[in-house]
Amino acid sequence: MNHTKLKFIIGSVAIIIIATVVFVFLLFEREQQETTAIVSPDNCLPAFRDGGGPYYEPNVPFRDKLVPEDNEGEKLIVEGYLYNEDCTRTISNAVIDIWQASEEGEYEEEYYRGKIVTDDTGYYKFETVVPLGYGEGTAYRPPHIHFKVFVDDIEIVTSQMFFEDVRGVEGFEDEYIIELENNNETWIGIHNIVLPDYQ
Ligand SMILES: [Fe+2]
Repeated sequence: MNHTKLKFIIGSVAIIIIATVVFVFLLFEREQQETTAIVSPDNCLPAFRDGGGPYYEPNVPFRDKLVPEDNEGEKLIVEGYLYNEDCTRTISNAVIDIWQASEEGEYEEEYYRGKIVTDDTGYYKFETVVPLGYGEGTAYRPPHIHFKVFVDDIEIVTSQMFFEDVRGVEGFEDEYIIELENNNETWIGIHNIVLPDYQ
């Protein structure tokens, strides 16, 4: 085998290897994009509006973890996407302002509240504990998490998200309930928020 032929073979093999690596890389990239593509919820129901109640505090910090370190509640991570009214797009850079009762069913001034911002894909996530319901008799409130959503500093909605115990109860549509899954002592809750009257 002469020198030129050898160079040709080595060159060809190198090109095949590089082409294969590039092909596999592109394939992997494409799969990544497909798996992270945003899927609209099956049932696109906008959040209901309510008055927010007496426990809202406007100037709470931005933080992903709402509870104090020494809490005794069941750990809960809530995550989901924020959608426009007909779920054709997600809303990035919106502020979700959250407040809830503690694991003992009480509101506190400092904790069990906080603001989070949706990322570039409209995704949000926060860590908290499962709240306890509160009130007696007909005034009983099942466990819930209050939230307001602001887009460009304008309030779009005040609403609440609930837990499994109200499934099937009139007025508590399935879309308002956090879908829970237990993972190593932590509840993972999926909850998409659909903004009413907002395109
Ligand atoms: Fe409440």
